[in-house]
Amino acid sequence: MWRRSLSAGYRCFGCRSFGAKGLWGSHAVRRCSAPAFPLGRITALQAADLWKRHFEETGVMEPDHSSNYIIAYLLGAKTIESLEQGKLTEFLSQEKTEQMWKLCTRRLSRMPVQYVIEEWDFRDLTLKMRPPVFIPRPETEELVELVLTDLEMKLRTEVGAGAQLTCLEVGCGSGAISLSLLKSLPQLKAVAVDQSQDAVDLTRENALRLGLQDRLQVFHIDVMKDAEALLSLCNPVSTLVSNPPYLFSEDMMSLQPEIYRFEDHAALDGGKDGLKVIKQILTLAPQILSNKGRVYLEVDPRHPPLIQQWVEANVEETHYVETRHDISGRPRFCILQKEKSNKDHKLDLD
Ligand SMILES: C[S@@+](CC[C@H](N)C(=O)[O-])C[C@H]1O[C@@H](n2cnc3c(N)ncnc32)[C@H](O)[C@@H]1O
Repeated sequence: MWRRSLSAGYRCFGCRSFGAKGLWGSHAVRRCSAPAFPLGRITALQAADLWKRHFEETGVMEPDHSSNYIIAYLLGAKTIESLEQGKLTEFLSQEKTEQMWKLCTRRLSRMPVQYVIEEWDFRDLTLKMRPPVFIPRPETEELVELVLTDLEMKLRTEVGAGAQLTCLEVGCGSGAISLSLLKSLPQLKAVAVDQSQDAVDLTRENALRLGLQDRLQVFHIDVMKDAEALLSLCNPVSTLVSNPPYLFSEDMMSLQPEIYRFEDHAALDGGKDGLKVIKQILTLAPQILSNKGRVYLEVDPRHPPLIQQWVEANVEETHYVETRHDISGRPRFCILQKEKSNKDHKLDLD
């Protein structure tokens, strides 16, 4: 049974439809102390209930999920539902009780549960998580699905099943997108870059743990500052994928404390209009991609028409293919394709 993301993890920053319990709120946190450590013995279920109530009283989001995921982790499972009932009604050892208090106290400080238990699931992978590296969100699983569907189709219809495919990911974070694509597509090789050394280290660590390191190269590159280094890595590639920072700067202050206080702001803040890194990726795309190669971007729901207009006015050889919607119907993914002009294409062939 896989862990499903807590709403504290959602990142549809532009969607105020989450309402009062959504992402929008003050990131200030009042200090709260842990409940008293039990004098006698306590079962796993009692510990989970006690902490659930404490989280509720102190305004921690997703109180139920938070304490359930922590107790499940301590008992060696992913979810409380996958534990035998007997395990939940057994007394916890002194050591496990102390660990429960330690981990739940971290959650009380509003640390996301993914950082508290130091791992999380993304599609069929379990990835190591470490602050401040961005925690992958469920909508990014949808981005991976749509890239995979296209690449599988390409293998079937255009290039042949035995062909080698290449992909560049800008802003790999924990490695969720690249590693997921590599796991599902043995014909794929990927290059992943990130401006954060923590992200580069975590992606490499996750690749090693999953045995995917031979098909993934990871580099510490800031695409805003070091376009030359980026271009020198691309041969060119057939796929460019990114879940870039796309939050409008003015919205940063409204984030939940879980996000604002623990995740790298450089993973979130996309500048005034949220398009700073996106524009750079699209400017470089014609030099990175092979002809008919595609760009797949996860964006804010306000972005697709802005991106289409901007590309049409500013980027040659790049055609806006379509906008895709996420599972809740919001326009969240942009697909673009490199189309060489007939003249350039002919010159290449000569
Ligand atoms: C929203 S996170 C996505 C992480 C990961 N791909 C995922 O989906 O979970 C954006 C990532 O882009 C990286 N990033 C931000 N600006 C960048 C830049 N100028 N060059 C390279 N990476 C950048 C951040 O460090 C962060 O890891």
